[in-house]
Amino acid sequence: MKFLSGIVDELERFLSKQAYSSVFVLTDANTNKHCLPKVESVLKKFGAHVFNLSAGEITKNIDTCISIWEDLNRLGADRSSILINLGGGMITDLGGFVATTYKRGIDYLNIPTSMLAMVDASSGGKNGINLGALKNQVGTITSPTDVFIVPSFLNTLDRRNYLSGFAEAVKHGFLNDVNQLKRSYNFVEFRLGDEFTDFLKTNVSIKQIIVAMDPFEKAERKMLNFGHTIGHAVESLTANSANPLLHGEAVAWGMAAELFLSVSMYGFPQHLMTEYVDFLRHNFEAPLLQINDIQSLMELMRQDKKNRGGQIRFSLLRDVGTFVYDAVPDEKAIGDAVAFMLEAGL
Ligand code: GLY
Repeated sequence: MKFLSGIVDELERFLSKQAYSSVFVLTDANTNKHCLPKVESVLKKFGAHVFNLSAGEITKNIDTCISIWEDLNRLGADRSSILINLGGGMITDLGGFVATTYKRGIDYLNIPTSMLAMVDASSGGKNGINLGALKNQVGTITSPTDVFIVPSFLNTLDRRNYLSGFAEAVKHGFLNDVNQLKRSYNFVEFRLGDEFTDFLKTNVSIKQIIVAMDPFEKAERKMLNFGHTIGHAVESLTANSANPLLHGEAVAWGMAAELFLSVSMYGFPQHLMTEYVDFLRHNFEAPLLQINDIQSLMELMRQDKKNRGGQIRFSLLRDVGTFVYDAVPDEKAIGDAVAFMLEAGL
């Protein structure tokens, strides 16, 4: 992984060194307009072919993959080709899946352009597509050949999308230590510069350390799902409402509920939960849900792909950086945690 202030020289060096037989690039309508122009001169030198997809989660499906696989075939892509994923989480997830399955796997380079993709989706090797309404049901865990992080791409990101990725950075703080957690709160406003790049580097390295311990999510990597059991349910339930929450926004609220469970079940320090909830209320959109939505949220949690034997499983904390994965709270405790979260957002 490389953190870069400009991308042209590094990309040229990378493509020259690897001598790929052909170069393909995946963008969506947004990154095609705002980010592709920054790398176009290099791509032209290497005769790259660009696939441009419609933006949005709806594109992340098997039909899109089939169409790219067919185009790769038609354009003569062989096993020495490379796919460069220039985009947010949708592009790095889908592109990673297309690349790691085409002819049983070609190289891929992630150039994340959103905060969510920089902090989370572009590293660790998880990729995949949705199966109807079910998110990331089909995919592989295969690491990219490299990841180039160019923080200045975030200049084109709106505030809500920045915060959505930032929530995953705060999650990494909870998984590391109190200093990292408190430091992360300082970056709630995006300001490009050395301090921000340093924060990003340290923050992504927290994820990398956890992934290195457990690349295939048998144990410690489950902690990267902290906030996600309740967060995914919130994300799904608000998806068809007047105010759908972005993934990271829903996870930010999910973390409040899962901190409540961590306090009640494992003695997580209450003052750190209170501090986080205050921070959340001041900075994030609240889910427009009511107390009588708890049953619908529980129903969605029962479908969570992390469950086993019909039990809803959680990744919780005894303290900042002290993990409890595969926790199984009873349904009353889950309901209380969701009520706490909803009341905090009112
Ligand atoms: N996004 C969580 C993980 O990579 O495991």
